[in-house]
Amino acid sequence: MSFSPRIIAFFLAVLITLVSVAFLSFVPDVTIAMLFVVGVACFFASFFFVFYTIDILVFREVDQIYKTIQKLKIRDFDISRKSLIKSVNPIKKLNSEISTYVTKKQNEIEELKKMEQFRREFLADVSHELKTPIFAAQGFIHTLIDGAKEDPQTLDRFLNRAAKSIDGLDALVRDLVTLSQVEKGDLKMHFEEIDLKHITEEIFEQLENKAHSRKVTLKIKPKDLEKALVMADKQRITQVLTNLIDNGIKYGREQGKIIVEIEEEKKHFHISIEDDGPGIPPEHLSRIFERFYRVDKSRSRDTGGTGLGLAIVKHILNAHNSKITVTSKIDKGTTFSFKLKKVSFDLEKAIDS
Ligand SMILES: Nc1ncnc2c1ncn2[C@@H]1O[C@H](COP(=O)(O)OP(=O)(O)O)[C@@H](O)[C@H]1O
Ligand SMILES: [Mg+2]
Repeated sequence: MSFSPRIIAFFLAVLITLVSVAFLSFVPDVTIAMLFVVGVACFFASFFFVFYTIDILVFREVDQIYKTIQKLKIRDFDISRKSLIKSVNPIKKLNSEISTYVTKKQNEIEELKKMEQFRREFLADVSHELKTPIFAAQGFIHTLIDGAKEDPQTLDRFLNRAAKSIDGLDALVRDLVTLSQVEKGDLKMHFEEIDLKHITEEIFEQLENKAHSRKVTLKIKPKDLEKALVMADKQRITQVLTNLIDNGIKYGREQGKIIVEIEEEKKHFHISIEDDGPGIPPEHLSRIFERFYRVDKSRSRDTGGTGLGLAIVKHILNAHNSKITVTSKIDKGTTFSFKLKKVSFDLEKAIDS
């Protein structure tokens, strides 16, 4: 039960009235009518006296607190002076508002701390990732300068390795730029009608040599699929599919098979990229979309991976209102899948006409 000034005033008035009437009843010759009049007068007088005294004292203090809050310019403190004054128990209201505000601020501080921690870790990761190829290239070049260049075979080998490190550095910087753009929301998506089948075939052509070197077969399913028209950003979806197919080739089985399946649903195309590789252990599965997260670090770097591919994929698909999911079974394979919105019939007709 909350003790508002009104309730307190009422109880005190009743008490004062009872005591006064009780004392008065001992006075000789006092009539009931007199007791009644004194009682009523006493009740109202003490009620208003107590009520206004509490009210003035309470509101003066509350007003003071309110002014202090305003002086502090706490903008998020969303309580108006009017609602405070009007409330039955302003101190209680003020108290609850202050504790809500404090909780909100505490959560914000926690969030900021987490972001700060994340920023620090990210900076450490980026420095580490940059350092690795720079040191490698530096090492090869200095060894050549120090005399290894005299042997033409070593010269060739070391120059190739230095070039590979610098290519890795280039890929890393490019992925970092893309990632920062998608995260900042700077990357404007250019939605247009695109054919997923055609894009997949183009990617297969591009990755043909890579697949061939690992004797990996690339397939599109269903075979009789003519077109898969979706509304999406062509360049970005190409990037998504390239990374997923490239991952399949890199981390899948040698002489394995990668199937890109494009299933037609009512309003979407469901795209899945399936390999028959060694799979991803369950404890790593939820983390592979984090930046720089790799299941096998040395293997990923050897294959020229930046560890940012899946983080970028996730962001690009988010910008398409889609979500990437992954399922994997050890020694059976991994499947990544997502949906893209179909070009609607009306739109198709409008474009044709
Ligand atoms: N198809 C796959 N099979 C097994 N592991 C995979 C597959 N795709 C991705 N991974 C794991 O997820 C990690 C993150 O992938 P990604 O972000 O594309 O980075 P990168 O390809 O540069 O290594 C990879 O390093 C690899 O360990
Ligand atoms: Mg990758």
